Amino acid sequence: MESRYKSYQYIENLSQAECKEVTLRGWVMNKTGKGKLQFIMLRDGTGVCQCVVFKPNVTEELFNDAKALTQESSVMITGNVRKEERAQGGYEIDVTGLKIMQLATDYPITPKDHGDAFLIEHRHLWLRSSRQHAIMRIRASVIKAIRDFFDGNGFKLMDSPMFTPNACEGTSTLFETKYFDLGSAYLSQSGQLYAEATAMALGRVYTFGPAFRAERSKTRKHLTEFWMVEPEMAYFDLGDDMDLAEDLVEYIVQYVLKTNMTELLTLERDITKLEKIRRPFYRMSYSDAVQWLNDNRIPLRKKVDGKDVDIYPFPWGEDFGSIQEEAIMEQFDKPCIIHRYPADVKAFYMKEDPEDKRVVLAMDMLGPEKAGEIIGGSQREENYDVLLAKIKLHNLPEEAFQWYLDLRKFGGVPHSGFGLGVERVVKWITGASHIRETIPFPRMIYRIVP
Ligand code: 4AD
Ligand code: MG
Repeated sequence: MESRYKSYQYIENLSQAECKEVTLRGWVMNKTGKGKLQFIMLRDGTGVCQCVVFKPNVTEELFNDAKALTQESSVMITGNVRKEERAQGGYEIDVTGLKIMQLATDYPITPKDHGDAFLIEHRHLWLRSSRQHAIMRIRASVIKAIRDFFDGNGFKLMDSPMFTPNACEGTSTLFETKYFDLGSAYLSQSGQLYAEATAMALGRVYTFGPAFRAERSKTRKHLTEFWMVEPEMAYFDLGDDMDLAEDLVEYIVQYVLKTNMTELLTLERDITKLEKIRRPFYRMSYSDAVQWLNDNRIPLRKKVDGKDVDIYPFPWGEDFGSIQEEAIMEQFDKPCIIHRYPADVKAFYMKEDPEDKRVVLAMDMLGPEKAGEIIGGSQREENYDVLLAKIKLHNLPEEAFQWYLDLRKFGGVPHSGFGLGVERVVKWITGASHIRETIPFPRMIYRIVP
């Protein structure tokens, strides 16, 4: 026997039910009415549909129930599907039956303008608003595109643990937690080190999960908990790594364009900008980028005695911040990969460039339209002695990395990988103004509720 839920009908499938009777299960977005007519804007998570109650066609009781409906009341509505070019979604329902599940009173988010603080405090309800709903549907597509891309290209999903005994991306942003009799554990900043181990077992893998960073940055691009996909590939060098990163980002953007046009229109996103996201992207070495900054008089901004000071020319060896990244990206309509950064500003595991010992085989992909860094990756150091020296240089606990060093002792090979931040990509694609709108329940320094 077929499961009953398979017969449930949804607004997104109304085109298959033209002139038929359907039952929709949803919530009232808003309602208007005059005389013998009531217009219910119903949302069911898949779309929005206008349901029309015409008094002569229904019982007195049903008409009164329709009149009593309030914003965000839950209802089941039965009616006939009618094509209506002017309606949102292209169809309307002529209501024949209506069952109120719960009448909502005083829903706090009304069509008037609410401040950001109010909305984020009501995140559990804000998710129902049309912009937030559209962003969440695109987020789901981005995640599906990522998984389809890797699953379809010979990669195996290998989950890395969230409790870890050591740092991966620098000790200053670790969240510490008690761990039974073993002392402290840390929430994972990245699944990469474990992905390197699984890549040596399975060849091409990806790990996909939350990452935790105790970052003090209160920017529009930082969360303390975010989702990251990290592919790791045995026998890939930096060039292969960059090619893969470009293929992935092209695939994600094109998938969203194919799947989420309704949502992109709701968000009033400039589609032509996304349509341009086709390989090849741009590439520039860090040293060339510094040259470009200096040719264009873009300074390094540093805090000196609490004041911002601009330093010209930009000193080679300093990391880029959003000022430099946004300036560089101003000229590009597609992402740009900056590669070969100074070793001092990057993580301990990155491989030194054999052609220039000052830099490592690292790459960051920056997005256009002020998207910032969406990907960070590198070729990994595969030499045991060099890696051990780096661990010591970075003052990392040697015992905790013994297993990681083993990977260089037993069949070490050149290998590479990268991490793509899901929320950064969703922010870019949707044009959301703040990263907190790109994850259902954002975690930031000053917010952990709801
Ligand atoms: O550049 P990151 O720190 O690289 C790593 O973690 C490597 N272990 C990845 C690897 O090679 N396997 O982070 C990767 C990406 C960034 O480019 C950014 O998109 C995102 O993760 N990211 C953040 N997103 C939101 N909030 C934060 N605080 C983020 N920090 C990094
Ligand atoms: Mg980075």
